[in-house]
Amino acid sequence: MLVTATTENLDRAAALLRNGAVVAFPTETVYGLGARAYDAAAVARIFDIKARPAFDPLIVHVADEAMLASAVEEIPDAARALIDAFWPGPLTLVLRKRGIVPPLVTSGLPTVGVRMPAHPVARELLTRVGTPLAAPSANPFGYLSPTRAEHVERMLGGRVEMILDGGTTQHGLESTIVMLEPRPTLLRPGALSTDDIESVIGPIERRLDKETQPLAPGRLESHYAPATPIRIVAADVPQGERAGAGLLAFREKVGGYAMERLLSPSGDLRQAAANLFEYLHELDVAGLERIDVQPVPLQGIGIAIMDRLQRARHR
Ligand code: TXA
Ligand code: MG
Repeated sequence: MLVTATTENLDRAAALLRNGAVVAFPTETVYGLGARAYDAAAVARIFDIKARPAFDPLIVHVADEAMLASAVEEIPDAARALIDAFWPGPLTLVLRKRGIVPPLVTSGLPTVGVRMPAHPVARELLTRVGTPLAAPSANPFGYLSPTRAEHVERMLGGRVEMILDGGTTQHGLESTIVMLEPRPTLLRPGALSTDDIESVIGPIERRLDKETQPLAPGRLESHYAPATPIRIVAADVPQGERAGAGLLAFREKVGGYAMERLLSPSGDLRQAAANLFEYLHELDVAGLERIDVQPVPLQGIGIAIMDRLQRARHR
């Protein structure tokens, strides 16, 4: 059931979670599908609802330092510097886990991904529940991530007891994931740019895709994909190929397509990121034979946008 995130509904959601249920809620990045992180049976329901393979670990969401301390063994200096600079916010840190975190959450890894969300609804919910929430993005495994409660309703509505509606998410892209040990390494580009991270802790390692595989098990080649076939295109697509297709353009419309969406007329990459999944959802339900997507510049958050588009292309 989709409900507005009123005080009353937050209380109901917290009660459901304390009873081991799964609730979808907004964060500043994308909507999450949450369960109490230290309740293995509740966490198992998340995997079931998403049809998510057990090798793909979940991110644990915390509201404060006490919740963080309950989940991780220690906080290296670089992690502390990043926490001070960017939490609450769209940054996930991979740290050594404590025994209380069930192996199901971390896919058996000795580390856990943790983040402190900034969205007031996520924070209110965490505070009410009183313990960390494990939450992947609230989409079926491999599909587009949800940036609105209606997306969750469409994709998972029949399977989730409650979807808390907190409006459209601010960033529209998942958190950036950084592993701290043995040295700071980018595992997933995301809403917080690598430049911002490096301005605080200096250069971090960026792995080639194939190398991040064993480190970040869920980083599959096919991910974030709409049901409609998608391809990344250069500016000039022949007229004849446009008629039955849709276009996700970066700065300027092209004409001749059955449907077009424009990520950012001013070329603002933050705006483009916020619109990315939103417009892909719209194009995906329009019955098009194909979605063409223009590339965006590989700088700042544009790196995360292109990461999602490259994966959305494979099916
Ligand atoms: O913005 C976000 O991060 C959203 C919101 C809901 O917080 N969540 C999200 O979760 O994107 P999800 O499940 O779609 O992505 C989690 C990914 C995994 O696929 C994996 O790549 C990485 O986080 N991850 C989690 N725990 C890890 C660990 N211990 N070591 C390495 N990578 C980990
Ligand atoms: Mg996801």
